Amino acid sequence: MDDLLQIAIDGPASAGKSTVAKLVAHQLGYVYCDTGAMYRAVTWAARKEGIKADDNAALEKMLKNLEISFKPAVDGQRVYVGHAEVTTAIRLPEIARSVSTIAAQVSVRKALTKRQQEIAANGGIVMDGRDIGTTVLPNANVKIFLVASVKERALRRYKENKAKGIVADLKQLEQEIAKRDYKDSTRAVSPLVQAVDAIKVDTTQLSIDEVVAKIMEIIQKKGKK
Ligand code: CDP
Ligand code: CDP
Repeated sequence: MDDLLQIAIDGPASAGKSTVAKLVAHQLGYVYCDTGAMYRAVTWAARKEGIKADDNAALEKMLKNLEISFKPAVDGQRVYVGHAEVTTAIRLPEIARSVSTIAAQVSVRKALTKRQQEIAANGGIVMDGRDIGTTVLPNANVKIFLVASVKERALRRYKENKAKGIVADLKQLEQEIAKRDYKDSTRAVSPLVQAVDAIKVDTTQLSIDEVVAKIMEIIQKKGKK
């Protein structure tokens, strides 16, 4: 077990966390866990149940029976809430707009942090999110903090949407990303902040392959893999 590492990748929206975390996990033969998808799945379920995004008590009740699971697929990971597949639904703009409010609720953070710690308990995991290095896995072997300018991140989201046939407004995307960054960084519980022992990687000018290579180098420098 000793050499099965816990790798934490945190950072703001569209910094490239999930894309590179998936590739790093694949290279190491590790499991990838997308904690943002878990917060998005809770948001999807709350909307379905008609629960307001800031109703901490109702969310706590809902979470008691909420099963969120991931299943590997050829085209990436599928996300389920109970038996319902929500992989595409959780990426819709209306989910992005309320996820940060849901993620600021104490009951939600408590429940999801516990589940994430269980998933990562045996190591051999690359987990991405906002508070992995600071709160979920404070003893992770490697902690990466991925950043990129807001302009570049909005452009990435724009291109991603375009590839899916969704025409988005670049300025609006930029504003939405900045707003979510602000909410995530200023919330009382587990805000988005770089862990003191995390290594910052600015991806603004880097390709996906370059970021992956940089992270693999950091992991190798740790001398364990
Ligand atoms: O993919 P994107 O960067 O847009 O976001 P995400 O990783 O899917 O996360 C969606 C939202 O979930 C974030 O904006 C945070 O509000 C919340 N989140 C969080 O609070 N803590 C985490 N560990 C992961 C996500
Ligand atoms: O998970 P997170 O929200 O941090 O970002 P992501 O969903 O992995 O990446 C957002 C978009 O940026 C994707 O379309 C990636 O292909 C792209 N990307 C990029 O163009 N250059 C990078 N160095 C990293 C990601």
